[in-house]
Amino acid sequence: MALVVVLVTGGSGAVGHLVVRTLREHGHRAVVLSRQPGTGADWRRGDLASGKGLREAVVGVGAIVHAGSATAEFTRTRATDVEGTRRLLEAARLEGVGHLVYISIVGMEGVAYPYYRAKLAAEAIVRQGSVPWTILRTTQFHTLMEFFLAAFSRLPGLMTVPFGWRFQPVDPSEVATRLAEVATGAPAGLLPDFGGPEVRDFRSLAESWRRARGVRKGLVNLPLPFRFSRQFAAGRLLCPDHRNGQITFEHYLARKYPVLS
Ligand SMILES: NC(=O)c1ccc[n+]([C@@H]2O[C@H](COP(=O)([O-])OP(=O)(O)OC[C@H]3O[C@@H](n4cnc5c(N)ncnc54)[C@H](OP(=O)(O)O)[C@@H]3O)[C@@H](O)[C@H]2O)c1
Repeated sequence: MALVVVLVTGGSGAVGHLVVRTLREHGHRAVVLSRQPGTGADWRRGDLASGKGLREAVVGVGAIVHAGSATAEFTRTRATDVEGTRRLLEAARLEGVGHLVYISIVGMEGVAYPYYRAKLAAEAIVRQGSVPWTILRTTQFHTLMEFFLAAFSRLPGLMTVPFGWRFQPVDPSEVATRLAEVATGAPAGLLPDFGGPEVRDFRSLAESWRRARGVRKGLVNLPLPFRFSRQFAAGRLLCPDHRNGQITFEHYLARKYPVLS
């Protein structure tokens, strides 16, 4: 097996850090790109939003897994995801990097959500092909389900969630395994969608989460008057014909909260 040097943007994030770990476990060299300071030759400091450090970050790299994104900084989405992807590709092209793998989202063109518009624009830039590419679109991670559920449980005494939202959550470790495999192979264009094992409504996810966390608050439906909310409920983000992951939300919770689950 040929050793590949892979730069992982977002290598400190939910899926990126697992991509780094998986690549290293398989004998490859994984280099993290982060805005934060780090130590050692395999940590490169750079900022997609300003372009600072990107030229240096791609030196000596054979492939890139591009998982860096302004997932929680919505005012920076355009600069980070759209312009940042353009800048990263330009740096990669100049360095002669042979493969860029972009992680994207199943069904997002069917949902009116500003972050998804930025992801679509970034995908389009990748598809222009200045660097040979692969795009893997996945469903929502278990970690994102938890993030949503924690946000909906902030009210004292009551947990209010949109019961009708539907997701097909997938474990980031399974996505990371796939990304590492793809990054160390040949560019393959747009891959088939990659989804979790079950289609679930948000009420049932909330019930499992409450049980696992020992949350005793009452659970109440929260109808949200937004187009994206209706589109979540309509199943636009699902790919039921692609149940690639095996780890269910309950497996994920049991691993994370072993005492109560
Ligand atoms: N979460 C999901 O359910 C899901 C589903 C499908 C696809 N995806 C896609 O997967 C990717 C990763 O998602 P995630 O949930 O793992 O994200 P995450 O945990 O929120 O991590 C985001 C990463 O992006 C990096 N980042 C943010 N702004 C940056 C900038 N200006 N320059 C350089 N790095 C920057 C952060 O690194 P530092 O803070 O260290 O700089 C961090 O490592 C995203 O593209 C997302 O759209 C996510």
